[in-house]
Amino acid sequence: MLPTWHEPTQPLDPAHFAGVRRPLLEADTLPTWAYTSPGFYRAEVERVFGKVWNFVGHVDQLPEPGSYLAFDFVGVPVILARGKDGTIRAFANSCRHRGAKLMEGQGVAAAIRCPYHSWTYDLEGKLRGAAQMEDTVGFDKAHFGLDQFRVGLWGGFIFLCLDPAAPPLEDYLGELPALLAPYDLENMGLARLKTWDVACNWKIYVENAMESYHVPTVHAKTIQLQKRDINPPLHGKSGQWCGLYTRHSGSRALEVGDTGFPYIPSLSGDSAEGTYYILLYPTTMLALTFDCMWWLEVYPTGPQSMHLRSGALFPRSTMARPDFQEILPRYCKRWDRTIPEDNVVSELQQQGIQSPFARTGRFSFMEPLVHSIANWVLDRVVEPPR
Ligand code: FES
Ligand SMILES: [Fe+2]
Repeated sequence: MLPTWHEPTQPLDPAHFAGVRRPLLEADTLPTWAYTSPGFYRAEVERVFGKVWNFVGHVDQLPEPGSYLAFDFVGVPVILARGKDGTIRAFANSCRHRGAKLMEGQGVAAAIRCPYHSWTYDLEGKLRGAAQMEDTVGFDKAHFGLDQFRVGLWGGFIFLCLDPAAPPLEDYLGELPALLAPYDLENMGLARLKTWDVACNWKIYVENAMESYHVPTVHAKTIQLQKRDINPPLHGKSGQWCGLYTRHSGSRALEVGDTGFPYIPSLSGDSAEGTYYILLYPTTMLALTFDCMWWLEVYPTGPQSMHLRSGALFPRSTMARPDFQEILPRYCKRWDRTIPEDNVVSELQQQGIQSPFARTGRFSFMEPLVHSIANWVLDRVVEPPR
């Protein structure tokens, strides 16, 4: 066996991926360097994250006019801010004077003031104050507003698109809003938000979230105790998503033996009989069960690292119960045990796969969506959709 000390000189040559393109049970996994290569990662940033609608949070994170949230999105510093008119906008978090990052963290502000020379922008991104620029020839504040990115909203979720030419969010979601309509997402509120740094490639994390093959091993003492059936994966006839559905009783957001809140009143059909685990490509996993929903939101920070955010929503009627804060920790306990279990194994996969002696593998029938994710990425990074 020859070690792969280096990624190939042409990492985007489709010939490297012929094995991944075969049907699931004949296919190879992605080449190991697709999880480590700076060149492959750069292509993903440009051709995937720079082009699509990316999940970046929930409207409850920006509760009032002036609320802002600053974060790094694949190397692009971004500000989300709610204006005086209530509209949520996204701005490039780079000052139009000499480029300083304007805001960090989150909070409420009346304006966006640069920490370097105090150029000041309003919450619509217009430059309002720029002291001692009166002698600068031809300088017009009207031409130095913050660059704005596209924002889309669905069900209280906020989406960011860096590509002005991309089709609208509705096209990206396709039939997903109709599938999830019984959950009445608009009437759910944010009850929890937690973050982790995970030392793995973003695909490793997303692939893990979309297969249950690992559950008996990785989650032996937690969600393995929940009964599940195996159904064929869901693929959106329209929209960039795929998913799993499992029919069962009892909330999937609680550990076996715990009791929780009443069920979401508007559930019907399949939503009343089981749980959906949806991947909205490329990085957002939505889990929707009888009494709540939670999500995993992945922010790649390099070829071998990422930032993870997980949020949870409950019906606003549930959140208004006097016992809400007393019972909520039962749900948090389940997430705080299982999410770190996945984080640990994802880091182990990264540590193993970065070895020059690591090699491509094969898939079980239990991993159809791992194969779908790899092919979705290749469609965009290596060659256009077939
Ligand atoms: S860099 Fe922002 S005011 Fe100078
Ligand atoms: Fe897991």
